[in-house]
Amino acid sequence: MKVTIVGAGMVGSSIAYASMIKGVAREIALVDINRELAKGQAMDLSHGNAYVRPMRIHGGDYDVSSDSDVVVITAGRPQKGGESRLQLLKDNARIVKEAVAKSLSYSKEPVFIIVTNPVDVLTWVAWKASGLPRNRIVGSGTTLDTARLRQSIADHCQLDPRNVHAYVLGEHGDSEIVNWSHADIAGIPLTDFCRNCRRDCEADLFQKLFEETKNAAYKIIEKKGSTFYGIGLAVSKVLSTIFNNQHSVLTVSSVHPEFEGLKDVPFSVPTILGREGVERILKVGLSSAELKGLSNSAGIIANAIKNLRD
Ligand code: LAC
Repeated sequence: MKVTIVGAGMVGSSIAYASMIKGVAREIALVDINRELAKGQAMDLSHGNAYVRPMRIHGGDYDVSSDSDVVVITAGRPQKGGESRLQLLKDNARIVKEAVAKSLSYSKEPVFIIVTNPVDVLTWVAWKASGLPRNRIVGSGTTLDTARLRQSIADHCQLDPRNVHAYVLGEHGDSEIVNWSHADIAGIPLTDFCRNCRRDCEADLFQKLFEETKNAAYKIIEKKGSTFYGIGLAVSKVLSTIFNNQHSVLTVSSVHPEFEGLKDVPFSVPTILGREGVERILKVGLSSAELKGLSNSAGIIANAIKNLRD
């Protein structure tokens, strides 16, 4: 299985590095407008081959991407301190459109994984530009936010994050929400878990943990300039689910045919992923307040798409 990663900067190379260590693909191609960077990253990564399951790694222009099964698009301008992801839209929409078109001239019907922000709107842009069925365009969405929230809850409750089942839904951005009403730890509804735990935590604990999650990227950008390891691991999980046809449930972003009166709007909900991309979008349990929050989030994405088209 071959994956091409368009954008060989810190996010793209972190995805490649994580995928190498986890043995996700048999071949990785790194493409970048700066061909020397792509070649350098490929060389550097390939020198670790003797210590992992060896794979073929190329770097350069789109010609190295031929016959890819999956194309990951990370190319684009990253957030500056305090800048929202939606503010990147104008600059990055053009870059993603071009990356899709050029990738399709070398690979027939790959599954696309869109990572460039604002990832939800750009998932729609990639779907439109590709002409492929909607299931073959997967946005990294809130896969990282869900992992951040699980880590926060696990840290607080002294647990393994893999046993915390709470999902971040909607926009990968400021309007995202959490399905608290249906969240559980090891199958025990969160409210029951807390009642039995008797640590008597403050009433707004989970809201605080959610705020930490929602603002994590801003905090990290303040400290180190950009984020890349978390998203690198999240996308390598999406990749391995597709390549190994694992049918895992991940909160990726994909284009929903219809939701609360909105047509063809991309946002994140728990979704079953396999070899062909999106297999099934799950109807997640929500309280009426959560449904309102998710509709608001989807509406913000729909508006951003409308402004792009105007
Ligand atoms: C973040 C980027 C991937 O949330 O948007 O770190």
